[in-house]
Amino acid sequence: MNIPVKKWYEAVQTRYSQQKYMTKEIKPFTLKSLEKKFEELNETYPEARVEIIEESVKDILPALKGKYGNFTDSPAFIAFIINENGKHRWSKMGYIGEAAILEATSHGLGSCWIGGRYIPERSKINIDLKRGERLVAVSPIGYSSENYNLTRHFISKLFPHRDRLDVKELCPDGYDPDWPGWVKNAIKIGSYAPSRLNRQPWRFYYGDGKLVVDCKSEPSAYKRLECGIALLHAEIGALDGGVNGRIEFGGLGLASFIKEI
Ligand SMILES: Cc1cc2nc3c(=O)[nH]c(=O)nc-3n(C[C@H](O)[C@H](O)[C@H](O)COP(=O)(O)O)c2cc1C
Repeated sequence: MNIPVKKWYEAVQTRYSQQKYMTKEIKPFTLKSLEKKFEELNETYPEARVEIIEESVKDILPALKGKYGNFTDSPAFIAFIINENGKHRWSKMGYIGEAAILEATSHGLGSCWIGGRYIPERSKINIDLKRGERLVAVSPIGYSSENYNLTRHFISKLFPHRDRLDVKELCPDGYDPDWPGWVKNAIKIGSYAPSRLNRQPWRFYYGDGKLVVDCKSEPSAYKRLECGIALLHAEIGALDGGVNGRIEFGGLGLASFIKEI
């Protein structure tokens, strides 16, 4: 996957989950540019894809099982779709899906992951799912009206990611302050990832040029997805820290970033 490091590094810092949107349509140029990037993202893995649906998120929520909170109408939403039989499909969905979210963020759009079991019979919207595909999450996209909530805006500017676990807690085998800068940056940026109820299920392990992302406990499907989100964040942190490398799913943990020698 082609990662625009500077742009997504910035997006990691400014993104936060938003429930309230203006009804204003997304600019046609922005939509076109997002669609183009999503096409590119969809070529990464056959197990996971993203699609922009130009309908309000409120029209799809009744078809997702569970409780979500109080969302307003949005001009569009992202559909996160997995291939039911694919290997590492949940972590790949998190990885590709967060790339879509960060790209939307970099265009000034608000977003919020919402996961839940999709019941097509309850849906007002026809999602074009191919055989073996399943909609596992959505995110509204649009111009946030929360930006006008000054308190929240200032607090988030002053204390970005104030509500995340300390990096030391995220490294069960220990966090070594003498680790290379790119490793520490990767873990810090990894810790900013979004997760359901902010549960932060990811844990990091480092050795021999390899940063492993694993789940704190027995991974449920959605925890795997969240670890995939943290994996992308960690990779952005590593690249920003000045190294190149590749992603490997499976192996020691759920997935790893392996530094190029
Ligand atoms: C898989 C997943 C599901 C989520 N589901 C919801 C949801 O149903 N309703 C909601 O308001 N936020 C939801 N969130 C957003 C989280 O609550 C949010 O990411 C977390 O509290 C951290 O806040 P932040 O994203 O602003 O950094 C979800 C996030 C993820 C990754």
